[in-house]
Amino acid sequence: MGNLKLFSCFTFFLSILLLLSYTTPGLAHTLSTKSRWIVDEHGQRVKIAGITWPAHMETMLAEGLDKDHLDVIVKRIVEMRFNTVRLTWPTYLMTNASYASVTVKQSFHRLGDKMNATLHNIKRLNQDMMDCALVDVFKKVLTCLKDNNLMVILDNHITVPGWCCNENDGNGFFGDKYFDPEVWLDGLTRMATLSKEFPNVVGMSLRNEPRGPKQNPSVWMKEMVRGAEAVHKANPNLLVIMSGLNSGTSFAHLQGGVPKLSFNGKLVFEVHRYSFTDGDKWAKTNHNEFCAKVTDDMTKDSLFLLEKGYPIIVGEFGQDQRGNNVNDNRFMTCFVAILAEHDLDWVVWGLAGSYYIRGGQPGFEEVLGMQSFDWRHVRNRTNLIRLQGLKEPFRGPGLPEKTYKMMYHPRTGWCMFKVWDCWGIGPCDVPRAAWIYKDKKFYSYNLFKDQCVQYVRENKPVQVLRDCNEWEPISATKMHWKTTAEGKEFCFDIDRQNTLMPVPCKCISGDVACDPTMQWIKVIDTSRVPQLVHCTQPGC
Ligand SMILES: *[C@@H]1O[C@H](CO)[C@@H](O)[C@H](O)[C@H]1NC(C)=O
Ligand SMILES: *[C@@H]1O[C@H](CO)[C@@H](O)[C@H](O)[C@H]1NC(C)=O
Ligand SMILES: *[C@@H]1O[C@H](CO)[C@@H](O)[C@H](O)[C@H]1NC(C)=O
Repeated sequence: MGNLKLFSCFTFFLSILLLLSYTTPGLAHTLSTKSRWIVDEHGQRVKIAGITWPAHMETMLAEGLDKDHLDVIVKRIVEMRFNTVRLTWPTYLMTNASYASVTVKQSFHRLGDKMNATLHNIKRLNQDMMDCALVDVFKKVLTCLKDNNLMVILDNHITVPGWCCNENDGNGFFGDKYFDPEVWLDGLTRMATLSKEFPNVVGMSLRNEPRGPKQNPSVWMKEMVRGAEAVHKANPNLLVIMSGLNSGTSFAHLQGGVPKLSFNGKLVFEVHRYSFTDGDKWAKTNHNEFCAKVTDDMTKDSLFLLEKGYPIIVGEFGQDQRGNNVNDNRFMTCFVAILAEHDLDWVVWGLAGSYYIRGGQPGFEEVLGMQSFDWRHVRNRTNLIRLQGLKEPFRGPGLPEKTYKMMYHPRTGWCMFKVWDCWGIGPCDVPRAAWIYKDKKFYSYNLFKDQCVQYVRENKPVQVLRDCNEWEPISATKMHWKTTAEGKEFCFDIDRQNTLMPVPCKCISGDVACDPTMQWIKVIDTSRVPQLVHCTQPGC
């Protein structure tokens, strides 16, 4: 009987997932900022949930056109439910005549015979592009994104076309070998001018990942202001997006004050983060402790800007989609909790399952790519579903003011949920369980008046009843929730049936191999209108 009930819960959770409605993103033409939020013309929040599409490498052509037709690739972005594309470009595409006027065919020929097969495939799949100038193909891509209702952020990724980034590649900071600020300003102006033809371009990221031995806060400040003014002058509709020092990870230099611009309501900051930002420490440290440390570092280095009233876009983050990189898996499970807690705008790296050429190797596989090597499949659907759960705003302008708590499970990206007799997790899109955390108790927001989360007994799912227990966040991440009952300590844990089960707390500290993530619940503020299952009697 018990098993039968769990089985029905499990199947119900599954069917909810399958029924999840599909929403096409509304296209916002002009965005601006309202304190820490990005909003549309009506002052309603627009949350960026995007994916990077590289077009800055040696060929300067948006990647993947050797794998499928442009329109098919763009439709896949829509199917994956992203609403924004961060399209990268190298400065020389706009400023250097020896690149700008080159055709697709010429661009590949220059790289030698080893590109013949790739070029052949582009010809087969995207025949009409072969003799177009690279800038015109860039426009074709923008047009196709517009026709498919996708917003675009144009990202000045590098000066000289090629893979980015390392500390000493000469493209890292103002004054580096290939980073002449005047050429950069000229490139920004030209690109911002071009963008006026495309109302779906909502912002420009001024420069990707400032870095290297020359980096310097006051030069950053001076040049970023010049870049922002140049973009604004050419196209005043755009958001101007500034990436931090140390490869886009740090805004510590803005603790004392942010750049002063001649215009308001357009400035956004961009943060990048990967597992390798911290070397291989994720894999070599207790997961719970290291997640707490990185969360803390990010608060000091960048997230404090939210408090100062500026939006942050996480412009790059990602993971090996094959799932066997422990460092990446640990990073990502912690990172989605940060994205959810602060309800950040984000852009994942990346779309490409392969590159035309990288590091001299044609057909280079990108294991961080959301698309498979052949660009025909989603590489890892579990990871995609987790990101989709972060697409809709949890709060902000346009949503009700009144907030309550949602219990978010970063391992799956799902939220606490009630189905019949069972409490478990399901998709967060439509909140079906809302909480008030008061006196250490999780009270139902409006489903069962005065009832709260109760421990029943060991290895039995929690219930929501009157005689409920106190739950306290006990670990460094504050994601382990403990109660004491029958003289023992228990934490929330998600079992195989996706139900919420009290079991002994684990992996709080020390142990490096231990995986705490099934026990992690991030309690976040939200004001999404909950759509609650109305129960007239317990166990409906
Ligand atoms: C244009 O690109 C070529 C080839 O990389 C380079 O040698 C040249 O210096 C560049 N010119 C300008 C004006 O940036
Ligand atoms: C590659 O293409 C070029 C130009 O079409 C041609 O001259 C060359 O022979 C081809 N090389 C190979 C190895 O097929
Ligand atoms: C997808 O990635 C997750 C880690 O986030 C991993 O556990 C899983 O095995 C991967 N699945 C596939 C099919 O590669």
